[in-house]
Amino acid sequence: MSVAAVLTAAGSGARLGHRLPKALVPLGGEPLLLHAARRLLEARTTTDDDRVTTLVVTAPADHVDAVRALLGHLGGDVVVVRGGATRQASVAAALEVLAAREGVDVVLVHDAARPLVPPALVARVVEAVRAGHVAVVPGLPVTDTVKQVGAAGLGDGPVVQPVLRTVPRADLRAVQTPQGFDLATLLRAHAHGAGVAHDEALAASDDAGLVELLGEPVGVVEGHEDAAKITTARDLAVAELLLRDART
Ligand code: CTP
Ligand code: MG
Repeated sequence: MSVAAVLTAAGSGARLGHRLPKALVPLGGEPLLLHAARRLLEARTTTDDDRVTTLVVTAPADHVDAVRALLGHLGGDVVVVRGGATRQASVAAALEVLAAREGVDVVLVHDAARPLVPPALVARVVEAVRAGHVAVVPGLPVTDTVKQVGAAGLGDGPVVQPVLRTVPRADLRAVQTPQGFDLATLLRAHAHGAGVAHDEALAASDDAGLVELLGEPVGVVEGHEDAAKITTARDLAVAELLLRDART
């Protein structure tokens, strides 16, 4: 039985504001999605029994051929599909490919927007799924104080929102990707997620959230700062510095 990865790369990157879709924006001279794909394929578990052998990439509708060309030289079993209107729809399109594959029993879902994910983190997630956890996410402790706020009142001066409460943060985790799943469980979660009320599905902003809606357990393993998501131009600038550092 084998491990596959879904690499989500079909978003537009509105908040990054680049002329290219975010996954195609260069970092150290290469597109984000190429960094992410390589790191997924490089991961080795301690037993070396499990590596990602199938990669399904969700591409922006206008860039399917470009993404195919970019990843061709990686060799191996790489499939590029056209992404959907939402991240959830993109993952669902990729899962259709995997549902038809023989032999895949574990699937990772990873965002191309997290190009510098350490292969060791990828391996940790695979190992936790192999150890019997049906859904596993990497998470990091939240370092800022977190407060829940209400609507701002009208009045002069800067916008001021009332604090409703301070959320105890010791038990909070900021969740990253790759998220790892027993394939059958994730297929069920996506089928269920497609049917639930829109706001409920929206509240589940990641794949593990859909598994939670099913009532199945989700576990957290230690994440890594290098798996941070690139959302804004500042995030991209930070990633450039980290990569330059790693290369010198
Ligand atoms: N994604 C996808 N299909 C979509 C939307 C997003 O495959 N319809 C992917 C993105 O390419 C990205 C990941 O999901 O790798 C996380 O999404 P996000 O960081 O929000 O990326 P974008 O949607 O591209 O950015 P923005 O929200 O700023 O437009
Ligand atoms: Mg988005």
